[in-house]
Amino acid sequence: MTTNTSEQLKQKVHDFWNRQSCGAYASQAEKHTKSYFEDIEEFRYREQPYIHEFAQFTRYHGKNVLEVGFGAGTDFTQWLRAGANATGIDLTQEAVANLTHRIAVYGLPQPKQFGVGNAENLEFPANTFDLGYSFGVLHHSPNTEKAIHELVRVVRPGGDVKIMVYNRRCVCAFKYWVKYALLRGKPWKSFYWALWNHMESIGTKSYSRQELKKIFTALPLQDIRIHTYVTSADYMAFSAFKPLNLLVRAALALAGNRQIWRREDYQFASPSNQKSRAEVEFTGNRLGLFACISATKRADK
Ligand SMILES: C[S@@+](CC[C@H](N)C(=O)[O-])C[C@H]1O[C@@H](n2cnc3c(N)ncnc32)[C@H](O)[C@@H]1O
Repeated sequence: MTTNTSEQLKQKVHDFWNRQSCGAYASQAEKHTKSYFEDIEEFRYREQPYIHEFAQFTRYHGKNVLEVGFGAGTDFTQWLRAGANATGIDLTQEAVANLTHRIAVYGLPQPKQFGVGNAENLEFPANTFDLGYSFGVLHHSPNTEKAIHELVRVVRPGGDVKIMVYNRRCVCAFKYWVKYALLRGKPWKSFYWALWNHMESIGTKSYSRQELKKIFTALPLQDIRIHTYVTSADYMAFSAFKPLNLLVRAALALAGNRQIWRREDYQFASPSNQKSRAEVEFTGNRLGLFACISATKRADK
């Protein structure tokens, strides 16, 4: 992508998210009131309760956390409530306004720093944060790999990286393909194309497991785990046509859930018996939209 096209795409992404931050549609209350933020928060964690197990907000009490792309600020609020030294950036003024009001409405402690910024050029020195967190953001940025590199760069060795990006081989992508490719007489179009053109802002990227493995193993990271979660966008993909949706639910059930539990992890008495983990460990339901990647930055680079 040329710089020019990349800048144009970034502007379109900005304009899309600047109209309304992600998840704000969940409230009909007056904007920036307590009810407004509570509706957004209640809906988010009812719909996606696994965000808590992924982010583990309270674990970062007193730690330096960077959230890239905080949107309506719901997760960012949890960092503040957990007593983290939180820093945040988002591409849009709309997100900054949401977070500014949210902090005031709840009387939350002031973040270390927050404002408009670009995931692809983080204005922080290398090795600064104990955690770099970005949920559902980096796949919207024109150069996603650069943004991932940036997040890893600013995390200190031994610190954590937690990123959610879209899994391409999921039910939700299939739905977009059926709707915008198959039913419009363009069955040769790919899932990638369907999500790029029709999922949220233009240019949304999605990744196969192999692609994620390639990207993340090339970085100075260890203990890379990728857990795919089924979302409402998968489970209700064809809710307008019940018979098809029932088939989708059967497929989700058949795909099963690869759990995180391994027998070796429970042989505490003899650590020498423990097998080392795979280079990248994949768990969860492989047909789910959300690929949640967690890893630790290696100390050697
Ligand atoms: C789908 S929303 C996710 C927001 C929030 N993380 C959440 O889970 O609700 C995507 C957010 O990423 C932001 N974003 C997109 N590209 C970005 C970039 N290059 N740098 C910083 N933020 C970006 C958008 O402004 C938007 O607020």
